[in-house]
Amino acid sequence: MKIVFCCTDTRPEPWLDGLRAALPEADLSVWQAGVATEPADYAIVWAPPQAFIDAQPRLKALFNIGAGVDALLRLNLPDGLKVVRLDDAGMAVQMAEYVCHAVIRHFREFDLYQQAQARGEWAFRKPRHREDFAVGVMGLGVLGSRVAQALRGFDFPVNGWSRNPKVLDGVQTFHGMGEGLHAFLSASRVLVNLLPLTPETRDILGRDTLGRLRPGGYVINVARGAHLVEEDLLALLDSGHLAGATLDVFRTEPLPTTHPFWTHPRVTVTPHTSARTLRDESIAQIARKIRALERGEPIAGVVDRARGY
Ligand code: NAP
Ligand code: GLV
Repeated sequence: MKIVFCCTDTRPEPWLDGLRAALPEADLSVWQAGVATEPADYAIVWAPPQAFIDAQPRLKALFNIGAGVDALLRLNLPDGLKVVRLDDAGMAVQMAEYVCHAVIRHFREFDLYQQAQARGEWAFRKPRHREDFAVGVMGLGVLGSRVAQALRGFDFPVNGWSRNPKVLDGVQTFHGMGEGLHAFLSASRVLVNLLPLTPETRDILGRDTLGRLRPGGYVINVARGAHLVEEDLLALLDSGHLAGATLDVFRTEPLPTTHPFWTHPRVTVTPHTSARTLRDESIAQIARKIRALERGEPIAGVVDRARGY
């Protein structure tokens, strides 16, 4: 079996070492622009160019080394080619850490304590009521459902929104655009975005949706930059409707040095790092799935290309 690796911005050698150990029978190669690569059975990819896809007519499956497949689905892919996303592989716990940290930092006013420390000031702040900080999680998939459960562990009221109806222990769930979305937003004060980027969800965090959050709302975007209309977020921060935002993803990455988010006093910026791809876990998962496919067995994490996730 032949496997080709095509991950832009990723050093291939450690991946090849891991794949060699996990699948000793595989013949591995690395795609390089302008160099012909033999047709492979499986490809391991992140943001591959169209030229790579065009030169691989025999592929049975594309394994994406991330959860989001938006960049991959923008390409012209042959009909029937399986696209497989990473299924947790150590990302869900990282996402839960990141989001709980951001929620708790805001709820417990750590930024204000940090400013007080800089002034050498020992001063308590009045405890805030957890029930006033309902957290709404958009997207209840592999990552969103883990995040919702982790937030419940801190006794925050948690709302969840998905495309189809869903039951999650201790979480008030909503579904669908229109009424379902509006009811979800108006029941939430802190909003966590964990949706896939699809034509339906692009620009979903704008003036209309964010304006429906409870006053003093807080936005945590950990999915994709193109979900958020950045000017609308800035306007709602300036109007006082929103108290702040923690943003891990941006329309342009790296975030341009002149972007107002860098210096906004109520915006926290991190460099698309909330849930990193963990190499060893990912290799083990991909190797397991390749073996299952070779045996003709079904695997989890196959993307519904028409749906976009
Ligand atoms: P997933 O398992 O595919 O779950 C997607 C969830 O979104 C599902 O609950 C789905 O609803 C819901 N959804 C999709 N379209 C919707 C719509 N139009 N209306 C309402 N709900 C909708 O995805 P995941 O693994 O949790 O990952 C989510 C996203 O996180 C990825 O696509 C990626 O963009 C992002 N991500 C970011 C990082 C980072 O480091 N910043 C890391 C990993 C992933 P149903 O359940 O009803 O289908
Ligand atoms: C990262 O953003 C991912 O989609 O895994």
